[in-house]
Amino acid sequence: MALAGLGDMDLKLIIFGGKGGVGKTSCAIATAKALSKNFKTLLISTDPAHSVSDCLEQKIGFKVVKVEGSANLSAIEVVADEALSVFKTAHQNELKKLLETSTNLDNEDIDDMLTLTIPGIDEVMSFKTIIDFIEKGEYDKYVVDTAPTGHALRLISSPKLLDDWIKVAAKMRWKYRYMVTSFTGSYNPDNVDTFLLNLKKTVKRIENILKNKTKCEFIPVCIPEEMAILETSRLLADLSTSGINARQIIVNNVMVSDGCDFCIRRKAGQMPHLEEISSLFYEFNRVEVPMFAEEIKGHEALSRLTEVLFG
Ligand SMILES: Nc1ncnc2c1ncn2[C@@H]1O[C@H](COP(=O)(O)OP(=O)(O)OP(=O)(O)O)[C@@H](O)[C@H]1O
Ligand SMILES: [Mg+2]
Repeated sequence: MALAGLGDMDLKLIIFGGKGGVGKTSCAIATAKALSKNFKTLLISTDPAHSVSDCLEQKIGFKVVKVEGSANLSAIEVVADEALSVFKTAHQNELKKLLETSTNLDNEDIDDMLTLTIPGIDEVMSFKTIIDFIEKGEYDKYVVDTAPTGHALRLISSPKLLDDWIKVAAKMRWKYRYMVTSFTGSYNPDNVDTFLLNLKKTVKRIENILKNKTKCEFIPVCIPEEMAILETSRLLADLSTSGINARQIIVNNVMVSDGCDFCIRRKAGQMPHLEEISSLFYEFNRVEVPMFAEEIKGHEALSRLTEVLFG
């Protein structure tokens, strides 16, 4: 089988995830390259390891650049820390005022607290970067390569984490508002209220895209090994709980050759796992990718993978 439906006009965001080393980056790039033949495509890496540069053999970085050799493909490697630091600098005043007006912390404590991370905020900032791109509408397709499963799950649960934080902050503000109202008889929303409201809007924007089954699709990448199957099952369960669309799985590194003793043994060893994958994930479109003799690096190798993924 081949990957299906990625050309649907409404489908904007395609996210690849899975266990470490199973082929997420290779598959994300090969998919982005295939889509770029018909659609203006942006490949986004949220993996701090940034192997997209290595795989494409081109320096990418935290700035959109054209991918050499693919006319309609651009790429960016999002640096969560940098995105967060831009956010903190831009909203330092609001964050400081929020803490000053809502807590008994002194200035030093407040500075300490600001340097600590709001839970999920760096992932939210990564995602905000993606959503900002989508909302600008410059591209038809956004293909996201993530770091191993834990990271993808944090990315997905980040809006909820941030939402919880906003609720606590809003509660603290409520007390402040109550005090101001009791003393002055009225309360005018200030820049901190606007900041929290905008943050809430960001959470909603992320959720609206992530949970929209026609706009977003998550593609888990798996290999025929026990640990990877377990992790894929957990990933799919979490995606389902979060209401995120997943309808196909890539099964990578499948041994097809009978050409040597090692290949025959490897193939036989994979057989029960492939059967398990078929029975566990029978509802999903499963795309098997053979184990290539060479690593997937550079345009030629990526094109070979594209051919397999898209038939
Ligand atoms: N089908 C394949 N045949 C041969 N080599 C492969 C295949 N798929 C991936 N590889 C190689 O395996 C390595 C890991 O692949 P890749 O970087 O795509 O995985 P990943 O899931 O993104 O890893 P990470 O979790 O570290 O981000 C790379 O060297 C890649 O070239
Ligand atoms: Mg990777």
